[in-house]
Amino acid sequence: MPLHQDPGSIHILTPEDIHKFLDPLSDILEKSVRKGAAVRFVMPFTKMDARAYWWNEILPAVQSGEVTLFAAFENQIPIGTVQLIKQMPSNQPHRCEVSKLIVHPDHRRKGIAGNLMQALENHANYLKKSLITLDTKTGDNAERFYKSLGFTPAGVIPNFALDTDGKNYHGTTYMYKELSAHA
Ligand SMILES: CC(C)(COP(=O)(O)OP(=O)(O)OC[C@H]1O[C@@H](n2cnc3c(N)ncnc32)[C@H](O)[C@@H]1OP(=O)(O)O)[C@@H](O)C(=O)NCCC(=O)NCCS
Repeated sequence: MPLHQDPGSIHILTPEDIHKFLDPLSDILEKSVRKGAAVRFVMPFTKMDARAYWWNEILPAVQSGEVTLFAAFENQIPIGTVQLIKQMPSNQPHRCEVSKLIVHPDHRRKGIAGNLMQALENHANYLKKSLITLDTKTGDNAERFYKSLGFTPAGVIPNFALDTDGKNYHGTTYMYKELSAHA
């Protein structure tokens, strides 16, 4: 994947980091949903809702080790984030899942998402995972982006979720990537 000029340094966030960076993390999520990001939420979605999401759902998941949270930083502030869900049913120890790849709208098209996904894939390799799965809004830029990273569409479920306007439904595309080192 082409790397752009210094597109943010990537770090794994600790529970303490989530506390410290709750405000910028909430800003990324709230502004992205307001711009139409299909990441589970519908409008109205406030900064308080975003804070509650990070605090009530992601902090415990990071604390328990269920999720690894990556963030891209610029000037010591997170500007993009992605989650690797590691905890799977006992018959799928080799699988992990990508969740909520979001880049702050003011920092897009600089290669941040590409770098976040590279860090996630490196970590999945480190964990000896051999299968990464995800789902994304059918036809979205993100779907083309994931294809460019080597993810294969497994199938489309039509009318899977509501758009952020809460009115129209969109399909979701399930995708997967096998990591060659362990396939
Ligand atoms: C999808 C998203 C994460 C991409 O973040 P980003 O940092 O801008 O992506 P990158 O700069 O790494 O772009 C990588 C490639 O993806 C493609 N791409 C990304 N955004 C695109 C857009 N708006 N239009 C067309 N292609 C796009 C391009 O091929 C791009 O490479 P290029 O800039 O060299 O042409 C970002 O737009 C976002 O946060 N969207 C809202 C949340 C979302 O939909 N997340 C994915 C669902 S889980």
